[in-house]
Amino acid sequence: MCGIVGYIGNRDAYPILIKGLQRLEYRGYDSAGIALMSEGKLNVYKAKGKVADLIQFAEQKNINGNIGIAHTRWATHGEPNTVNAHPHYSQSEELAIIHNGIIENYAVLKQGLIENGYSFQSETDTEVLVQLIEFIKKTNQVDLSTAVQLALNQVIGAYAIAILEKNQPDVIVAARKGSPLVVGIGENEYFLASDATPIVEYTDKVVYIGEEEIVTLSRAKGMKIKTISNVEKTPEIKKLELTLTQLEKGGFPHFMLKEIFEQPKTLADSMRGRVNVDENNVVLSGFIDNKDKFVNAGRIIITACGTSWHAGLIGMYVIEEFARIPVEVEYSSEFRYRKPVIYPNDVVIAISQSGETADTLAAVELAKSQGAFIFGICNVVGSSIPRNSHSGSYTHVGPEIGVASTKAFTAQVTVLTMLALMIGKEKKTISEESYLNIVKELGTIPDKMKKLLEQNEMIAQFAKTFTYAQNFIYLGRGYNFPVALEGALKLKEISYIHAEGYPAAEMKHGPIALISQEMPVVVIAPSSGMYEKVVSNIQEIKARKGKIIAIVTEGDEVVKKLSDYCIEIPDTEECLAPLLATLPLQLMAYHIAVVKGCDVDQPRNLAKSVTVE
Ligand code: AGP
Repeated sequence: MCGIVGYIGNRDAYPILIKGLQRLEYRGYDSAGIALMSEGKLNVYKAKGKVADLIQFAEQKNINGNIGIAHTRWATHGEPNTVNAHPHYSQSEELAIIHNGIIENYAVLKQGLIENGYSFQSETDTEVLVQLIEFIKKTNQVDLSTAVQLALNQVIGAYAIAILEKNQPDVIVAARKGSPLVVGIGENEYFLASDATPIVEYTDKVVYIGEEEIVTLSRAKGMKIKTISNVEKTPEIKKLELTLTQLEKGGFPHFMLKEIFEQPKTLADSMRGRVNVDENNVVLSGFIDNKDKFVNAGRIIITACGTSWHAGLIGMYVIEEFARIPVEVEYSSEFRYRKPVIYPNDVVIAISQSGETADTLAAVELAKSQGAFIFGICNVVGSSIPRNSHSGSYTHVGPEIGVASTKAFTAQVTVLTMLALMIGKEKKTISEESYLNIVKELGTIPDKMKKLLEQNEMIAQFAKTFTYAQNFIYLGRGYNFPVALEGALKLKEISYIHAEGYPAAEMKHGPIALISQEMPVVVIAPSSGMYEKVVSNIQEIKARKGKIIAIVTEGDEVVKKLSDYCIEIPDTEECLAPLLATLPLQLMAYHIAVVKGCDVDQPRNLAKSVTVE
């Protein structure tokens, strides 16, 4: 999820663009760049790292100009470095482009351009797009806007782009499909951005660019909009209602709630190009390139911390069930020091949202030094753990700002499930029927998540009744035992209420002594997977006057009768239940913390990435 900004008017563009990039920092970035039109020159400056690094780099440069575009990159193709940073020049350096999105057919387009004599500096899909636009412009002798329109008809994927042309010093051309783009209208000036945060301080008049629309901005000719099918559109001017802070959170009160609600989209993003329901297939490139390592593995060790460790526990269940390879799940902080026995035919899966957790990085280095094959499942492209892994799969959920991990967790579980399916299919340890059922069901999860999130208000209401509690217990069995651990961690870390996750059957080995009216018991009891046994556990708690909050499959009247509160989730495959059961627990923790007045996005004593031991 990158950020783009543009300006055309009579003011200096540089300060407006830089401030715009800073406004988009919440979208995350690993490199930043700017293109300025000045005295017939098209100057491009870019730097790895934060916006501050770009400012430092541009200090001694010509930063004049009333027209410009700028970009913060969240890498999807190619390492975060200066070469891959945007803007990208075309071959002639007459065009410069910035882009937020993914061009899925960039490889085919690139090959065609190479055959027409084009060469490339970067690994990005974006550079392919600007070269294609230049190729079309020169071949057909058309203006920039027409060249963009023709090029976008060849593109498959998502984009929000903005382009400058050296010989057209009074024009910015921009377009969008699948990634947001908004134009701010000032006095004889226009602002362009991924969202309204860089615009709101200059104007409240905006036009939200629609799907497959191209906008041309010019001081002399004003704003023109057409579709990529060349149909003219009348700009629909709207009035901005949200404040800057509200805008950064997409209208949500906290990043955590925004990220909980992003999960239907981010889960779809983590499966994009990987789960093909129509072809009943799963494709993880990191696995395909290293198939033999997994097929011949004597053991898989999963190393992680916190929420990522909980995802790893679900990974153990799903990999052992479908790939029949023994799995051990290790807390990285323990694994790195306990002198573990590691064999060269071990596969070590390191799970980390930030890719910078010190203990997990150390665990990776230890395992690697003893010959194990390292597979990273991370969210931040080019972070330390992926760079130290032999291969891996990114979760692609965009920046996760809330300290309490939510969308990264469900994506980690999804990648582990895809991995288990691919290994099982390769080793023929999963039946064709199970494989097909799970692949098909995976495709339905984003919509089921959407439906589930509609219960947010109800959960907010009943969560208020539990702010008195000093302790919670979360119970689950099988795939939902790690969900119980994750639900307890969410509550602990943002509401500061003590909570424990337990295997439901373990209650009678001690914790049942804790049951009282004052301690809510959350039981994850979907109808798939040892349901009857969980019902017995609930009855044991009920008999001792425990207060029960149950997560059940839609229509379950049995557990509903036994519970004080019930949250219904859609039915799904047993191994996919965690993807749905986790959401109400995230919401419950969030609403309890909010009622308690806690700092939900930045809980006390915690950091988003624990880069120290
Ligand atoms: C989860 O909500 C916590 N913020 C924390 O447990 C986190 O999962 C842990 O620190 C691991 O971080 P990582 O995934 O970036 O390695």
